[in-house]
Amino acid sequence: MNAPIKNDRIEWLQGPSADGAAKCSSVPAGRKNPWRLVLLGAPGVGKGTQAELLTERLGACHLSTGDVFRAASKRKDCDQSPAMVAALDYMRRGELVPDSTVWEMVRERSHCILGCGGFILDGFPRTLGQAESLKELMETESIALSAVVNYELPLDEIVERLSGRRTCEQCKAVFHVTERPSKGGAICDRCGGRLYQREDDRPESITVRLEAYERSTAPLIQFYRNLGVLTPVVAKGTPDEILGRTMKGLDRANDRVKTA
Ligand code: AP5
Repeated sequence: MNAPIKNDRIEWLQGPSADGAAKCSSVPAGRKNPWRLVLLGAPGVGKGTQAELLTERLGACHLSTGDVFRAASKRKDCDQSPAMVAALDYMRRGELVPDSTVWEMVRERSHCILGCGGFILDGFPRTLGQAESLKELMETESIALSAVVNYELPLDEIVERLSGRRTCEQCKAVFHVTERPSKGGAICDRCGGRLYQREDDRPESITVRLEAYERSTAPLIQFYRNLGVLTPVVAKGTPDEILGRTMKGLDRANDRVKTA
C-alpha cells in the first residue's frame, strides 16, 4: 500500500523559513498522475470552499496566495519585508498585489508546486504576467496543468457571498452568516475560535476587488481556453453540488488528455 500523502501547507504559508515542516516535494510518489489544478473565478465565487473539498477528494495540496498574505499580516511588523508590508496595504484596499511581489513569494515556495503530490492553486495566477510565469516554471520542469476550473456565478450572488462571509481566526474555516452559518454563532464550530469579517470583505473593498478581477483576471479565461485546459463550472447551488459538477468536469478533462 502507498504511504499516505501528507499535505502540509506550513511551508506554503510560512515560506522557506518554515521550521521542520515535511516538504511536499519529499512526499512519497504514490500517485502516477497527480492533479495539478488552477481554480479561477471572481472573488467570493467559492474557490476556497471548493479547494478544501477538492483537497479531501483528490489529495492534492491547497495553495492559496491570499492565505499567504493573511498569514503574513499576523506576523509582527519587524518580521515583514518592506515588499510584504506594501503587499498587505494593496490587499487591504482590495487591489491586486504587484506581480513582482507575488512571483517572488511563489518562486520561494516553488517546491510546493513542483512536489509529486499535486496542487490546487486558489487565487494564483491572477494576471497574464503571473500565468506566463507559472507556465514557464512548469515547462522548465516538464509538468503540465491537469485543468483550470473556472467557477461562474452572477454578480449579485457573488456580492452576497462576500458580504456574509465569516472566517475563523484560528483554523481559517470559512462560514456564511445565512448560507453556511456556524452553529456557535460568532464562534467556530470546528475549533471554538472567534469568527471575524475579513477587512477586504467590506463594501468599499469589494467594489475594488471586483473591478480588479474584471480588468486583470478575467482575461485568463481566454488564455487557458486557448491552451485547451479550461473547464467551466456553474457555481450555483450547495458546495456539494458544485463539487459534483467540478468532478464531472475533471473527468471530461482527463478524457481529453487521454484522447489527445
Ligand atoms: P484571496 O484570498 O485569493 O481572495 P479572493 O480571490 O478575492 O477570493 P475569496 O477568498 O474572497 O473568495 P473565494 O472564491 O475563495 O470564496 P469562498 O470559498 O471564501 O485574495 C485576497 C487578496 O490578496 C486579493 O484581493 C489581493 O489583494 C491579494 N492577492 C492574493 N493573490 C494574489 C495574486 N495572485 N496576485 C495579486 N494579488 C493577490 O466563499 C465566499 C463565501 O461564500 C463564504 O462565506 C462561503 O461560506 C460562501 N459560500 C461558498 N460556497 C457557497 C455556496 N455554494 N453556497 C452558498 N455560500 C457559499
